Amino acid sequence: MSEPTSAIESVLVENRVFPPSEDTVKNARIAGMQAYEALCAEAEKDFEGFWARLARENLQWSRPFTQTLDESNAPFYKWFADGELNASANCLDRHIGTPVENKTAIIFEADDGAVTQVTYKELLARVGQFANALKARGVQKGDRVLIYMPMTIEGVVAMQACARIGATHSVVFGGFSAKALHERTIDAGAVAIITANYQLRGGKELPLKSIVDEALAMGGCDSVKTVLVYERTASAWNRVEGRDVTFTEALAGQSTECAPVPVGAEHPLFILYTSGSTGKPKGVQHSTGGYTLWARQTMLWTFDLQPSDVFWCTADIGWITGHTYVAYGPLAAGATQVVFEGVPTFPHAGRFWEMIERHKVSIFYTAPTAIRSLIKAADSDEKVHPKNWNLTSLRVLGSVGEPINPEAWMWYYRNVGGERCPIVDTFWQTENGGHVITPLPGATPLVPGSCTLPLPGIKAAIVDETGKDLPNGAGGMLVIKRPWPSMIRTIWGDPERFKKSYFPEEMGGTIYLAGDGAVRSEDRGYFRITGRIDDVLNVSGHRMGTMEIESALVAKTDLVAEAAVVGRPDDLTGEAIVAFVVLKRPVPTGEEAKQLANELRNWVAKEIGPIAKPKDIRFGENLPKTRSGKIMRRLLRSLAKGEAITQDTSTLENPTILDQLAKTN
Ligand code: WT7
Repeated sequence: MSEPTSAIESVLVENRVFPPSEDTVKNARIAGMQAYEALCAEAEKDFEGFWARLARENLQWSRPFTQTLDESNAPFYKWFADGELNASANCLDRHIGTPVENKTAIIFEADDGAVTQVTYKELLARVGQFANALKARGVQKGDRVLIYMPMTIEGVVAMQACARIGATHSVVFGGFSAKALHERTIDAGAVAIITANYQLRGGKELPLKSIVDEALAMGGCDSVKTVLVYERTASAWNRVEGRDVTFTEALAGQSTECAPVPVGAEHPLFILYTSGSTGKPKGVQHSTGGYTLWARQTMLWTFDLQPSDVFWCTADIGWITGHTYVAYGPLAAGATQVVFEGVPTFPHAGRFWEMIERHKVSIFYTAPTAIRSLIKAADSDEKVHPKNWNLTSLRVLGSVGEPINPEAWMWYYRNVGGERCPIVDTFWQTENGGHVITPLPGATPLVPGSCTLPLPGIKAAIVDETGKDLPNGAGGMLVIKRPWPSMIRTIWGDPERFKKSYFPEEMGGTIYLAGDGAVRSEDRGYFRITGRIDDVLNVSGHRMGTMEIESALVAKTDLVAEAAVVGRPDDLTGEAIVAFVVLKRPVPTGEEAKQLANELRNWVAKEIGPIAKPKDIRFGENLPKTRSGKIMRRLLRSLAKGEAITQDTSTLENPTILDQLAKTN
């Protein structure tokens, strides 16, 4: 990268521009802005032809498609609907007989630092064998399989094996509670659960299998016939006879060859639950054809993946980033990738930098929250500063999950990327399947804090409530005006909610509403995401519904009468969860308040998972409400931030509650 074009060095100024170096442009897949614009023009001129070309170039079809986009039942769009393919074949079999077959597919680094590698050929054999084990347990095309696994090669194998036999997987992040697992098992009607006895994170053994047992004991999960248990550690676990089987037992005697089952392009590859603005998580359903196409294409475009690259996406397979950029994209693109079991701060906060050096990582993709916590660690301990490691293998850096503040961007750019590596600030969502707005390493001039421009074929825009385009500089709602292949197909079992959540009638019912606010810069038309416009929070890059946390709190019926949850900006986690609680007892103070706040935090961790724990809990004898009884959330947001109240509070029944709710515990 060349020097910033602006001389102003203050990290608070966001108008600095970092164009790609000539060298980066020369060797890039999309070389220069003209190349990017040419692709955009191609999509503009012949939208369907453009996508059909990409679908043919990126994927191997066992039955070629003849239709590209079917809009007859919008917003239930169909892509390549009469074509057939298999996602696992497109990640593994496609490389057999090519130089990639003996290439390392996965470099696995365990929590304790042990390294294991598998080639594409070996991975294919492991996936085939696992697929046969699933079949032997009666799992068939169309069945749903729940995966509750640690970050391991086995986790990726489990996902690929489901895809291979046409079973739809639903991965649940290993940090979610038994209750969350229970809800998702029932909603998906899973026939099997794939889990591990324990997961290893930061030197600790954390249970998984016992949480599965707890979830299944809650009842209503009769559809689950099998629980497959990967014995990650030697620790004992409780076996339920007739239902539980270890990986070793299930794989014994199974052939490593399993023909991939061709499925229709629209066949659901997976369901992934995410938070919405109501209490119930949404099962986002993705397709096989369109999704796999975009997983591969964005690897090539956004990361400019080259055959010699070592790619590392630090996301867990429990999130969409771990689906698209661990389990599918890198494999479909024939990359060598690092899969990491542990956490960035164990055994020290230089672990990421040490691993980049050890495995000669060339493309590194992580979340702003991780960067911010590692900045903090490096500031307080020189020994874990990235300068202590050789990071010259790096050539492209990525950011995902939340807006990256310009300060963190600059630190990442200088201290990790050596002012040499472009940072792709990739904006997308669980519902998008893959990147939608992002810079391209060899084309886009970068502006810290901006995700820049939509990928070719993605018709992103900023509109008002009626769907009318807004000019650059005016903040509005982010939408995508045309369907794209990797978009959400429906909410599992709830097509009405799908329509209501994403395709507002006021905008005509066919435009995808992202749920984020955004603004385009006056000069370049670059997008900057300003945050969610619904009741969804982004805590450390994880989506949390405020209603979900409120429901969890009021479920503690012996203690809680009413609760309201809002977000407030947090230097480390982006947003922090603040809960305002009315108890069924007098407002507590001092030690009692602290103790009750902790009790509620642990309760929420049990109901949803530790990531949903409120950072700050406030008690009051009531919540601020309007005359009609509506909670004044705006007021709560001000209280959460510790701001002086400037809003009109004349409608409050009892203004003294504001003083109560201003106090943290
Ligand atoms: C929400 C989606 C798919 C990535 C992992 C999170 C926020 C995501 C960015 C970015 C600003 C971002 C948005 C979005 N977000 N990436 N580069 N810049 N905001 O997926 O859990 O579905 O959350 O994350 O608010 O709506 P998710």
